[in-house]
Amino acid sequence: MSDDLLALKRETDAALAAATDLRAWDAVRVGVLGKSGRLTALLKELGRASPEERRTRGAALNVLKDALAAAIEARRVELEAAALDSRLAAERLDVTLPPRPFPAGLIHPISRTMEEMAAIFGAMGFEIAEGPDIESDWLNFSALNIPAHHAAREDMDTFYLPAPAPGGRRPVLRTHTSPVQARTMLTRELPFRVIVPGRTYRADHDATHSPMFHQVEGLVLDRDITLGHLKGCLIDFLRAFFGISDLPVRFRASYFPFTEPSMEVDIGWNRKTGELGGGGDWLEILGSGMVHPKVLANCGIDPREWQGFAFGMGIERVTMLKHGIPDLRPFYESDLRWLRHYGFNPLSPALLHEGV
Ligand code: PHE
Repeated sequence: MSDDLLALKRETDAALAAATDLRAWDAVRVGVLGKSGRLTALLKELGRASPEERRTRGAALNVLKDALAAAIEARRVELEAAALDSRLAAERLDVTLPPRPFPAGLIHPISRTMEEMAAIFGAMGFEIAEGPDIESDWLNFSALNIPAHHAAREDMDTFYLPAPAPGGRRPVLRTHTSPVQARTMLTRELPFRVIVPGRTYRADHDATHSPMFHQVEGLVLDRDITLGHLKGCLIDFLRAFFGISDLPVRFRASYFPFTEPSMEVDIGWNRKTGELGGGGDWLEILGSGMVHPKVLANCGIDPREWQGFAFGMGIERVTMLKHGIPDLRPFYESDLRWLRHYGFNPLSPALLHEGV
């Protein structure tokens, strides 16, 4: 091979080695093999050579052309592999790194209390029952032994809805979760234990009352349920819920149309400090009693065969006491500052205190 061809091969190899990316590589390729590339020019000159020269020079040029093409292609493969390697290195992700902390939503205290109640009563064998917010007059009142014109109807500051038909009884926004007692008795197989968390409504609005609030109802029916079961169940629940194993609990005779006997339940606290426990003062916390035989009969259950107890409790009230929340109104205002302060981490389980 003549000197000029050897020089072209040497210079091309050097230029390829110096090309460190595909753009520089392409410039080398075009400068050698392109339309006005150096090899192309040599091939064109061949036309003017003598036949003898054309043969030897032509053969040498073809060998050179193959060698150049192979060197250029080999460099392309090298450069593409290097480009891929550096991209893989630059875009590398360590999928084993822990995620950055990000602000997650919090559980509203009302929801949290409902979860805790479900956990505590669930451990005692209770199931959850539910009913609608709009109730018939019969289920909210009459079935529960609260007849028309009974004083208890006035006490409850009921929200009435328009009657569906002229002269018909007007549906109500349920004033308590007790209508679900009747619903459960009418539909569920005996015996059963249920709690009913849900919304309730009364036309009352001040610092300690909201027109919409929450209650949890409880109902246990079986053949041989006594007042002793009621007391044991509620004492265990209150001590577990407030996390105070010796919380004083007092049962005080009271009146509800749908229970007989009826009892209000107080827990011990210290009026001055607001601290729950044996502080010498009492705080009313819920209503309860043995289900009235008339209520059982109204719901098609034979009171000579079945009996049980019921209770009802305000969810906001026990939540405020447990967590020292002073005002009722922010519960419903969706103020993020309040929610961040009083909300609960969704990943921490509804806590079960020792002894549950
Ligand atoms: N429903 C009653 C109220 O809202 C509470 C209660 C429920 C009392 C069940 C006794 C039995 O005040």
